[in-house]
Amino acid sequence: MPVVTFCSFKGGTAKTSTALHLGACLAKYHKKKVLLIDFDAQANLSTGVGIEFDCLETMPLVLRGEKELKDIIRNTSIKHLDIAPANVYLDGIESTSPLAMDLYSHERLRKVLKGWEEIYDFIFIDTPPSLGWLTQSAFFASRYTVICVTPEPYSMLGLNRLREHHNSVKENHPLSCLGVLISFWDKQGSTNTAYLEAIEASFPNKVFEAKIRKDISITKAIFHGKPVFLTNEKARACQDYRSLGKEFLARLTHIQQTEKIETAVENLVTKKKPQKAHAGK
Ligand SMILES: Nc1ncnc2c1ncn2[C@@H]1O[C@H](COP(=O)(O)OP(=O)(O)OP(=O)(O)O)[C@@H](O)[C@H]1O
Ligand SMILES: [Mg+2]
Repeated sequence: MPVVTFCSFKGGTAKTSTALHLGACLAKYHKKKVLLIDFDAQANLSTGVGIEFDCLETMPLVLRGEKELKDIIRNTSIKHLDIAPANVYLDGIESTSPLAMDLYSHERLRKVLKGWEEIYDFIFIDTPPSLGWLTQSAFFASRYTVICVTPEPYSMLGLNRLREHHNSVKENHPLSCLGVLISFWDKQGSTNTAYLEAIEASFPNKVFEAKIRKDISITKAIFHGKPVFLTNEKARACQDYRSLGKEFLARLTHIQQTEKIETAVENLVTKKKPQKAHAGK
């Protein structure tokens, strides 16, 4: 099942909150087995599920080949939701030994996750607000991305850069944008139409219908080290993330069906080609 990266070029667009709450929603309400990969040195995703800040059994050890992924995976307070935590040593890990000597170090995460797609229904990777080595590695390990934005100018400006990055990764690796999620949404916002048009221009037909409204419960939940579904199930953030969960699953099913048809057609076409060439000889 798919590996999905949550990304943005701008900070504070709710990447971590979305990876956590969409993962928690799929685990709690749809009984999906979800593995969260914290791939940001800030380790906010790990903190969000209550992992202690000085935890050492984390992704840097796995990337260095000193531990296996299975040795660092932890359960969370939600059944079916597991996490591979991060810590500050992820920062600049690509320039330290042994990764610095590896020309293909950005493929390590993909290799680490091999086989785990069969154990989990979803693997979600949370990335830092940059397009550096960590995000690039996450892209190469993923089949899909969810792009996180907020309705403000700097967030929109990063979108074109992100589209270019997607396109360059796609030259060597199948990567599709599953959707663009808007958080901190204000239904009454006077500039909403302009923002929706800006997103449409960079990623046509990708904006999720579900939007996450501003809700302090999300920040409060961090103090409990639990997703908001366990701290304040009546919060509007819970409604919003549950709507996103349904739309995410429906969209994924639709995209996967379309891809299957496209592959079948492609196979038919490529099967015919050699016959033609042969007939011409
Ligand atoms: N819908 C929301 N309403 C109110 N606060 C929110 C909402 N979503 C996220 N937050 C808060 O906004 C802050 C930034 O969110 P988050 O950490 O998820 O963003 P991020 O994109 O992962 O940031 P970074 O780029 O630093 O990794 C956090 O304090 C989080 O609790
Ligand atoms: Mg984050």
